[in-house]
Amino acid sequence: MKINILVGTMTGTAQLCAQEIELALDGDEVQVATLLMDKLDPSVFADRAAVYLVCTSTYGQGDVPDNAKALYGALCTAKPGLAGVRYGVFGLGDRTYAETFNFGGKRFDEILQALGAERIGERYTHDASSGTLPEEIAMEWAQQWVEKVRERLSQAA
Ligand SMILES: Cc1cc2nc3c(=O)[nH]c(=O)nc-3n(C[C@H](O)[C@H](O)[C@H](O)COP(=O)(O)O)c2cc1C
Repeated sequence: MKINILVGTMTGTAQLCAQEIELALDGDEVQVATLLMDKLDPSVFADRAAVYLVCTSTYGQGDVPDNAKALYGALCTAKPGLAGVRYGVFGLGDRTYAETFNFGGKRFDEILQALGAERIGERYTHDASSGTLPEEIAMEWAQQWVEKVRERLSQAA
């Protein structure tokens, strides 16, 4: 199984989560690659054999982080067909921003679904005000998520 983690971050928390997920999952059977979203374009989704994990925070007024803006914008304007792409979302945010809580992950989820991609598992929404460490939660969440990916891939085989 190949997992490509795409990281949208402003101050590095989502990247730290991705690193922990990579450490937790990478091994003989699962190969994990972590890519910062900077300079990525929608062709990153070309590898249908891979499963994608969008790991992104939220900034501004419910925006994706700066390093994710080009990729997100290109998905919205170029609208590439993403049928056959499978993905999960680990989102970071803060409930203090009640109106736009976790909108970064939500925006990616919505555009990927609109383009025909299939989400595996529920979108996770970490809350920075919860007192939990996102990188610890990410590790635990990823172990459960990868089981769902396994189930989905075995159905498809
Ligand atoms: C200026 C600023 C704006 C933010 N806006 C939002 C927001 O609209 N919605 C939300 O859920 N979280 C928001 N957050 C919280 C961040 O998404 C959260 O702290 C996250 O863990 C940061 O991750 P990062 O270091 O990977 O960028 C904001 C944080 C800052 C500093």
